[in-house]
Amino acid sequence: MLSTSTGAAHAAILGVGAYRPSIVVPNSELVEAIDSSDEWIQQRSGIKQRRFATPEESVQMMSVACAREALEAAGIEADQVDAVIVATVSHMMQTPAVAPLIATELGCDHPVAFDISAACAGFCHGVGLASDMIRSGSARYALVIGVERLSDILDRTDRGTAFIFADGAGAVVVGPSETPGIGPVVWGSDGEQYDLIRQREDWRDVVAVGSTAMPPLTMQGSSVFRWASFTMAKVGTEAIERAGITPDDLDVFVPHQANMRITDAMARSMKLPERVKIARDVAEQGNTSAASVPLALHRMIQEGDAVSGDLALLIAFGAGLAYAAQVVVLP
Ligand SMILES: CC(C)(COP(=O)(O)OP(=O)(O)OC[C@H]1O[C@@H](n2cnc3c(N)ncnc32)[C@H](O)[C@@H]1OP(=O)(O)O)[C@@H](O)C(=O)NCCC(=O)NCCS
Repeated sequence: MLSTSTGAAHAAILGVGAYRPSIVVPNSELVEAIDSSDEWIQQRSGIKQRRFATPEESVQMMSVACAREALEAAGIEADQVDAVIVATVSHMMQTPAVAPLIATELGCDHPVAFDISAACAGFCHGVGLASDMIRSGSARYALVIGVERLSDILDRTDRGTAFIFADGAGAVVVGPSETPGIGPVVWGSDGEQYDLIRQREDWRDVVAVGSTAMPPLTMQGSSVFRWASFTMAKVGTEAIERAGITPDDLDVFVPHQANMRITDAMARSMKLPERVKIARDVAEQGNTSAASVPLALHRMIQEGDAVSGDLALLIAFGAGLAYAAQVVVLP
């Protein structure tokens, strides 16, 4: 008979870190190329500004910076980390993954390290995976990083995406806990809607026509809006129920920072009480895809809107289509 591993009774988020890249880009700097206005963008998306990375602020650099802050907040040394999970769609090497590079720069001791491609949903996928790994005994401490440099694959003249997507990185340390700290993940996908958010072309088609331009992101905005506003509220409600709580027990709601109107529609559909604090980082940061949930959570902690012991609903969704949600206890 084979031996099997057993892990900690429970897993929890132990620390949060963030890296916000240095180029601040207000709407006014984008509107000319897309024949838009600051007023239109704010009204339709809630976005006032976003941040783009400098050439030095690479996926690796931003990841290491936010991971160091998360480790320090958790009181964990890099060599205690045995899993590094990096959610990203903008590490521009098909292979190898960026996770081993990040782990080595951090000083981890040969951890399992891999990237996951679940677009804007990637960070919550990572938290779900890390929680399962810790409870099954395949890791004791895991770093989950969400990181993007979407400015590399943005068409600055596309009216549907140029004002939405941005750059940044956020991380959490997940580790063992005596009490439940991460509720059951509710996750899934819908490949029938594969084309709603995607890179415009396959790399092979780009090369076949002799182009050197990177295939940019495209999005069918109004279809994504409808899907996210209605279907994702059901996923959030299921995560609340599977955690064995009710919306009244929640303190904090940290949805993927896609768009302020989607956030408000979800909060209404889920009947969240007025006192639940809602993350609104999208106004300052734009939509940073896999980085958006940890960045938004980090801001809430920094600004005192979320405190240790709070119950938070995390939900992330995007290209695939893919989605994942869980209720967590904040560190
Ligand atoms: C992108 C989004 C803001 C566009 O808003 P919308 O109301 O769906 O826009 P539509 O494409 O239907 O166009 C509506 C009108 O706005 C205009 N418009 C579109 N983009 C515009 C822009 N960037 N600036 C100004 N006007 C614009 C259109 O021309 C159209 O004008 P008309 O009514 O005179 O024909 C919206 O679809 C959205 O937020 N989608 C979800 C995006 C998202 O969060 N994605 C991330 C998920 S991970």
